[in-house]
Amino acid sequence: MSDWRVPLTDIVVPEEDVQAVLECLESGWLTMGPRTQAFEQALSAQVGSPNAITVSSGTAALHLACLAAGLGPQDEVIVPAVTFVASASAPRYVGATPVLCDVRSPLDFNIDPADAAARITPRTRAIVAVHFCGYPADVHALRELCDANDLILIEDCAQAIGARIDDAGRQVGTIGELGAFSFFSKKQLCVGEGGMVTTADDERAERVRLLRSHALSSSTWDRHRGHDPAYDVIDVGYNYRLDEPRAALGLSRIARLDASIEKRRASVRAYRERLAGMPGLELPFDEQAVERSSHFAFPVLLADRPARDRFRATLKDNGIQTTWYPALHNFTEYEQFSPPGGLPQAQATADRHCALPLSSSMDENDIDIVVEVLTAALA
Ligand SMILES: Cc1ncc(COP(=O)(O)O)c(C=O)c1O
Repeated sequence: MSDWRVPLTDIVVPEEDVQAVLECLESGWLTMGPRTQAFEQALSAQVGSPNAITVSSGTAALHLACLAAGLGPQDEVIVPAVTFVASASAPRYVGATPVLCDVRSPLDFNIDPADAAARITPRTRAIVAVHFCGYPADVHALRELCDANDLILIEDCAQAIGARIDDAGRQVGTIGELGAFSFFSKKQLCVGEGGMVTTADDERAERVRLLRSHALSSSTWDRHRGHDPAYDVIDVGYNYRLDEPRAALGLSRIARLDASIEKRRASVRAYRERLAGMPGLELPFDEQAVERSSHFAFPVLLADRPARDRFRATLKDNGIQTTWYPALHNFTEYEQFSPPGGLPQAQATADRHCALPLSSSMDENDIDIVVEVLTAALA
């Protein structure tokens, strides 16, 4: 698929996945139906949320979460600046204003609850907690903050399916009023394009189910089975349905999700062991966070932006693919949301980090190659 010696990520589709999709295609039913229902049941059990509602993307999940949260044009929504743009575009789809807030530090680059608290105004209605790179944000502190200020907590779990927020194993997407997940092709549970909303609130779940399919009072699958001969339209809805081939693929892949997250975690542990104390390089987060993360990506920190850019160039010249994520206020469209005083920790995170190759199919040999090239690059 690529000429990289070690690609950033690698998607493996075993024969059982191919068979699951083939069976679906041969069944003659391609839109949301029995496989989607089965995938939703598996997801509900996996995440530990009573309602798991699949949709067409993580962005659609965030949009519907904002609608189910009742957000609208007068509202402000606090969003960390270290995230993917969809966390901030979704509130804007419903007319709300994103208020960018800082992260704790480059060593813990999730939303800083203290900075979020400082940005609450009478118009604030919600906080988006992003579990960036698979590392859980401090949702306990954010839950308290939201409860104390009558705010809704939306968890953006797009990069974090399977991440745990405590030692009891409670997962991300179960503490906010709403959680949004992505099954995009680079994610831990990937089907190409897809997403999910989780919520413990049955009324909000009903609203998400309604709005994902044009606000129709019955589904095509219901009508096909003769349950509902006609339908009504009871709101302005969307076509955010997941289709059956993707649900079939997801259902096949979810059986291996925990094992594949464990493999990612094992690679991260191996990397960290080899890189600890290396001059010129810092490792964000601690061992407890590593055990809780579901490891979408493996970021390391360089001294500053020029050092990071030189480091990436040397790795590229040696066949190692890396990436990095700009902070939201670095984008042309989002400069307007940069607060006075800036977002110093988010900026330092954007400037200093570099994500190294990480996938569930990596082996010791890949890690050896990356560490060898990286050591030479830092020397
Ligand atoms: C943090 C975050 N939020 C939202 C999304 C949007 O998900 P999707 O690409 O499935 O629309 C992504 C996807 O990359 C993401 O990383």
